[in-house]
Amino acid sequence: MTSILILNGPNLNLLGTRQPEVYGTTTLADIEVSCSNWATDNGCDVSFMQSNHEGALLDAIHAARGVHQGIVLNAGAYTHTSIALMDALASVEIPAIELHLSNVHAREEFRHRSFIAKVAIGLICGFGAHGYLLALDAMKQHIED
Ligand code: DQA
Repeated sequence: MTSILILNGPNLNLLGTRQPEVYGTTTLADIEVSCSNWATDNGCDVSFMQSNHEGALLDAIHAARGVHQGIVLNAGAYTHTSIALMDALASVEIPAIELHLSNVHAREEFRHRSFIAKVAIGLICGFGAHGYLLALDAMKQHIED
């Protein structure tokens, strides 16, 4: 069965109460439920993880080898700073989609730079929590093509 890993980086555990005017009021637990429902409806396996620690995210990417066929990554602020996450994605050679709830390109200049985009197959941003389902659809299609 197709297996997709959804990885969430720093501060995303605070979704629901964190700057709701930017990120909405949906919690990460709500998003996990929608992703799990999507998995059931689409005959896929979805694993969901969040960490505030760069090293834990790196370990999860390394461990995805031979287990998951795709990674959806909302790396939070690490998107804009982490060469290590970029290198990890390039090293495991698993297709990855960069995801953000907010439209990072309509925000501060420092959010326009992404190290993840350099190694991702595509980018989804600006659709709030629904972006997770868009990313899952896109990844499933990519894997099956
Ligand atoms: C974010 C955008 C990042 O710039 C920010 O640091 C986040 C959340 C998003 O989902 O919109 O933590 O990744």
